[in-house]
Amino acid sequence: MHWNIYAVIPLILTFSSLVQPTNGAIDRQSIVSRYNPTRNVSSQTTPMQVGNGFFAFGADVTGLQTFEPFAIMSSWGWKNDTLPPGKTLEDIANYHGVSWLNHGRLVEYDFGSNDPALEQWLTANPNRVNLGRIGLLFRDGGGNVLNVTEADLEDVKQELDLWTGKMSSSFVFGGEQVRINVVSGQDTDTVAVSIQSTLLVNNTLGIFLDFPWNDGLSKFSAPFVGSFNLTSNHTTNLSTNLGGGIQAQIAHQLVASTFLTSLGGDNFTITRDSPSTHRYTVLSNSPTSDTFSFTSTFTTADRMPSTIPSPAEVEESSVSAWEEYWSTSGFVDVFTGSTDPRADELQRRIILSRYLMRVNEAGDSPPQESGLVNDGWSQSRHNCPVRFLLFLRSKFHMEMYFWHSCHWALWNNWDLLSRSSSIYSRFLPSSLARAQIQQGWSSGARWPKMTDPSGRSSPGEINNLLIWQQPHPLMFATYELRSVSTDQEKKQAVLEKWEDVVRETANWMSAFAWWNESTSVYDLGPPMYVVSEDTSPNVTQNPAFELAYWKLGLGIAEMWMNELGVDIPSNWTDVKNNLAQLPLEQTDNGTFYKVYEGLEDDFWTDPEFTNDHPALVGLYGWLPQTEDVDLSIAKATAEKVWVNWNISNCWGWDFPMLAMSAARNGETEQAIDWLLHPLFQFDDVGMPIGGVRVPTPYFPGSGSLLYSIAMMAGGWDGSDGNAPGFPKDGWNVTVESISKAL
Ligand SMILES: *[C@@H]1O[C@H](CO)[C@@H](O)[C@H](O)[C@H]1NC(C)=O
Ligand SMILES: *[C@@H]1O[C@H](CO)[C@@H](O)[C@H](O)[C@H]1NC(C)=O
Ligand SMILES: *[C@@H]1O[C@H](CO)[C@@H](O)[C@H](O)[C@H]1NC(C)=O
Ligand SMILES: *[C@@H]1O[C@H](CO)[C@@H](O)[C@H](O)[C@H]1NC(C)=O
Ligand SMILES: *[C@@H]1O[C@H](CO)[C@@H](O)[C@H](O)[C@H]1NC(C)=O
Ligand SMILES: *[C@@H]1O[C@H](CO)[C@@H](O)[C@H](O)[C@H]1NC(C)=O
Ligand SMILES: *[C@@H]1O[C@H](CO)[C@@H](O)[C@H](O)[C@H]1NC(C)=O
Ligand SMILES: *[C@@H]1O[C@H](CO)[C@@H](O)[C@H](O)[C@H]1NC(C)=O
Ligand SMILES: *[C@@H]1O[C@H](CO)[C@@H](O)[C@H](O)[C@H]1NC(C)=O
Ligand SMILES: *[C@@H]1O[C@H](CO)[C@@H](O)[C@H](O)[C@H]1NC(C)=O
Ligand SMILES: *[C@@H]1O[C@H](CO)[C@@H](O)[C@H](O)[C@H]1NC(C)=O
Ligand SMILES: *[C@@H]1O[C@H](CO)[C@@H](O)[C@H](O)[C@H]1NC(C)=O
Repeated sequence: MHWNIYAVIPLILTFSSLVQPTNGAIDRQSIVSRYNPTRNVSSQTTPMQVGNGFFAFGADVTGLQTFEPFAIMSSWGWKNDTLPPGKTLEDIANYHGVSWLNHGRLVEYDFGSNDPALEQWLTANPNRVNLGRIGLLFRDGGGNVLNVTEADLEDVKQELDLWTGKMSSSFVFGGEQVRINVVSGQDTDTVAVSIQSTLLVNNTLGIFLDFPWNDGLSKFSAPFVGSFNLTSNHTTNLSTNLGGGIQAQIAHQLVASTFLTSLGGDNFTITRDSPSTHRYTVLSNSPTSDTFSFTSTFTTADRMPSTIPSPAEVEESSVSAWEEYWSTSGFVDVFTGSTDPRADELQRRIILSRYLMRVNEAGDSPPQESGLVNDGWSQSRHNCPVRFLLFLRSKFHMEMYFWHSCHWALWNNWDLLSRSSSIYSRFLPSSLARAQIQQGWSSGARWPKMTDPSGRSSPGEINNLLIWQQPHPLMFATYELRSVSTDQEKKQAVLEKWEDVVRETANWMSAFAWWNESTSVYDLGPPMYVVSEDTSPNVTQNPAFELAYWKLGLGIAEMWMNELGVDIPSNWTDVKNNLAQLPLEQTDNGTFYKVYEGLEDDFWTDPEFTNDHPALVGLYGWLPQTEDVDLSIAKATAEKVWVNWNISNCWGWDFPMLAMSAARNGETEQAIDWLLHPLFQFDDVGMPIGGVRVPTPYFPGSGSLLYSIAMMAGGWDGSDGNAPGFPKDGWNVTVESISKAL
């Protein structure tokens, strides 16, 4: 047997993918700083944030959470609620959902059990906690707390210096100037706060801390997370002078999980306001000084370092990490020299998305939709389909991991991506068990959809029947391989690192494809859910997008084994070469791909099927051309989507997906229009607005924007010239350290 990899998948095997490296043409610092967000009033929806990817601190206009209780959240801060009455851990371990027929074989899923209370608990747990709140405390000369609102402040200014990660606020209260600087540590989950004001003298300005309760039943987790008034549901305890710079530590316990807040910096006194609340007051011990600096480090007990950093150390780590980030990784300048008036706004979105992705989406597990801003997905929305009312908060969704994080690969942020991309090897054992033990497939690993750091699949019909998360690891693996293609030793290491994940991913893809003897092709489904989640799982078969993605994925898996010099399982090749053809609709008006085989030809006018993610445009655009995809049909299909789809119900990553399709089809003006569509907006600090269907922020919008920008500016395999996705007229696009998309 011989395997000519270039014949197997001609388009994806261009190993040299780095666009010409930086030559310093772009004045990066001036472009970044141009978009420093400023505010003079708190937003009621989104915070200004500092953070490091594992940890983020959301601030109101004072730089703290003085007036608005924006959240302090992390990738590691999870807790379980108490079990439903009468349930035990054993019941959890013994949970079994319903079994549905899959081509005559019963397959068990995680939904539809006869124990809805248990199922609901499993969906809502673990959930992500808000680690606390830190605000300014205004007092009179006698030490009484003043009731100050934001309206009592004058001359308010807030600015985030993107280049260094420093957030500064200033205002006048009672005729006195107050200045506050806040930064996040980059190697510890610490904020450092420096205050300068004559109000500090005699402690007429202090700090308060508070700790909320939150659980999987809370209905309003956006814009704020948790409840500060359910004080009897949880405990906090104070310890002081623990050494290592820790002057005080508050242990916050919610059910069985404890979170530590450790305070250091200038000498202070901390007191608990009342045993029945979780509010603490911090006052400087230098009542003649008009400056006060402190740090607050957030951890669990097992993450707790023996010393905490000083305010100066936190600031240094912020400045150096952010400067390095902006200076050394990918950069796209669409602004300088462009005459298209939209270039400024597009550049703003790029810069602010680059900032917010690094703050919210660079932790050790895939991010939730709202990053570390809030647990927004529980919020019910007008026009929101019933499924969004389920308990989607806090957890992460493996099919969305591509949109959240694959841009890191194209922007060459391997350090940030590798923190979470190891999730596939971490989830391999449980995904092998899901596929083979729970569901009885002959081989392979079936990746979960909605999950948490434990890898357990959350109950739910869509959660268990969706399949487009399955090929994603093959994309992440391929990009990592391309990034080291010129170094034989590194390349071998990457090949070996991903080998098991690639193999088991492809094994399940092969196993899931069902040999249909009557048509002599391999079918995908039923049952299954498509990307748009709006077709009946029991009749959904051979969806166009998933077929193309299966073909691409199996081709990558073949290439991987070939590169490793090991045999390619013949069943992969058999499935890949004999997958069902993409379903077509042939009408007088033309030939188009359709969502899945068997869908009626006039589905284009049926709102039921044209109302959600238009994955038909992802066939070619997001994905490179795969065998079987006819480019003229793909283009006609994309253009039909533009006309017939209910675009007014699209949101988030739909728009970059539409843009990538337009770009590959040579419709570059249209590509820009999609990226700046009125339903695809970013607020004043760059938060991706959820739009018609979902709460703000919806970070898949930011990740997909960056992926599409890298592709349109840096190109894709087989593209020609500079910035092939941008119009030639009106745009001057310069790229540095961006890798080509597949
Ligand atoms: C904030 O700035 C905006 C725009 O510069 C200005 O219109 C508004 O009056 C300012 N508001 C306050 C409260 O200072
Ligand atoms: C929550 O409970 C589940 C089931 O017992 C367990 O696997 C998981 O580790 C727990 N998570 C946390 C954060 O306590
Ligand atoms: C799908 O089929 C199963 C039986 O295999 C049935 O229990 C279920 O109700 C059907 N679901 C839908 C959405 O039709
Ligand atoms: C504080 O002042 C605001 C505005 O004047 C008022 O609405 C609120 O009730 C006051 N709160 C307390 C606790 O007095
Ligand atoms: C601080 O308190 C002292 C003693 O009461 C007083 O003399 C002084 O004026 C106060 N300083 C300020 C800035 O309020
Ligand atoms: C508790 O706080 C929430 C907001 O977090 C509020 O909606 C609710 O009314 C408060 N309940 C009481 C009893 O004060
Ligand atoms: C939290 O407190 C509320 C009000 O006291 C109570 O109804 C609820 O059961 C408590 N929840 C837990 C998990 O303790
Ligand atoms: C705090 O103290 C209470 C009462 O002594 C105790 O029940 C609780 O477990 C303690 N919490 C923490 C986080 O140590
Ligand atoms: C902090 O201040 C207290 C009270 O003034 C004093 O007893 C203590 O020694 C000081 N600690 C440090 C580290 O300066
Ligand atoms: C295009 O942008 C680059 C990078 O910022 C800049 O060096 C160059 O001068 C610009 N070209 C024009 C024609 O403005
Ligand atoms: C495919 O082939 C491999 C290697 O021979 C085997 O381990 C695996 O079980 C097969 N998968 C299926 C679905 O037959
Ligand atoms: C063809 O297009 C016309 C105009 O858009 C439309 O009215 C007609 O229904 C289409 N016919 C089919 C078979 O789709």
